[in-house]
Amino acid sequence: MRRRIKNCSFPSCRPPAGRRGLPALLAALVLLSGCGGGKDDSLRIGAALYTQDDTFISAMAQDLEGLVREAESGTGKKITLFIADGKSSQSTQMDQVDRFLARGCDVLCVNLVDRTAAAVIADKAEAEGVPLVFFNRQPVEEDIQRWDGIYYVGADARESGELQGELVLDAWRRDREALDRNGDGVLQYVMLEGEPGHQDSLLRTEYSIKALTDGGVEVEKLANEAANWNRAQAAARMAQWLEEFGDGIETVFSNNDDMALGAIDALADTPRDRWPLIVGVDATAPALEAVASGQLYGTVHNDGRGQAQAILDLTLALWNGEDPAQAVDLEEGHYVWLPYRQVTLENLEEFWKE
Ligand code: BGC
Ligand code: CA
Repeated sequence: MRRRIKNCSFPSCRPPAGRRGLPALLAALVLLSGCGGGKDDSLRIGAALYTQDDTFISAMAQDLEGLVREAESGTGKKITLFIADGKSSQSTQMDQVDRFLARGCDVLCVNLVDRTAAAVIADKAEAEGVPLVFFNRQPVEEDIQRWDGIYYVGADARESGELQGELVLDAWRRDREALDRNGDGVLQYVMLEGEPGHQDSLLRTEYSIKALTDGGVEVEKLANEAANWNRAQAAARMAQWLEEFGDGIETVFSNNDDMALGAIDALADTPRDRWPLIVGVDATAPALEAVASGQLYGTVHNDGRGQAQAILDLTLALWNGEDPAQAVDLEEGHYVWLPYRQVTLENLEEFWKE
């Protein structure tokens, strides 16, 4: 594998924008010290987000910024993190990736807008010899295998679905009468889905319900619709379903916490005696508050901080020319998986602290 940090060719390794105003000689020195055969003391990371307007992703980006600062003071090396907001446009993100490469970023971290765009980005990074860490939005296996400098950091979507389904299964087993309001022995539910085509939407939707049916619970889907991870869109869907099904909704499954909070917003708008059981995924700060207040029955902790830490550990290892398998738990040479955990009122304390 070619790595720019080791084999950097002079013209392609440009300093960040802020340095371009330096007098020519000084600039040349910066370039030579940054790209010569010796050890470069300054690491430049380019992180491209699918959109900053996503609660989970923006929290993860903040975690990454904080961890980078800690690593800087811990290692004494200069680390610059460039963060780009793709604003849900793949062509915008492509331009941002091009700019990161032109700026001489040593490692790229990409949260794809469109998972099918992975191959094009992988080829660009490979052509420049710049290692590439995809995160949160998983490219297909074939794209990950394109080059040995490509990695994926994420969490197993199937596991989150199973854990979410098991939360409801436990509630059903513990107090079936409370859940089965109409007493027909069947769990009537609605499903708020994330973006169509996102691995987390597809697998959470499937495996949450499978956990219940595997547990012997008969279920009836009243409605399902994509609300694209978005609180306002979810509130609109839920308002519509409340008009249509009223108290017939016994459980709301949501592929993430923001949409679960949207369902809660809709419920709060139409006063009623009993609320359906609502479950989400992520354990974002506002979701933990909703668990504490009893509006959200439970959620599944999606370890964004752990993922940010893995991205940084991987990046530092690659930059230092070390074996990444020594820095992170690497599976099949390319994947780092962070575990999910269930959250309810009973263990909420553990997550407040994080
Ligand atoms: C999170 C969602 C987030 C999505 C973005 C998922 O893993 O659970 O909250 O919107 O990633 O890709
Ligand atoms: Ca029922």
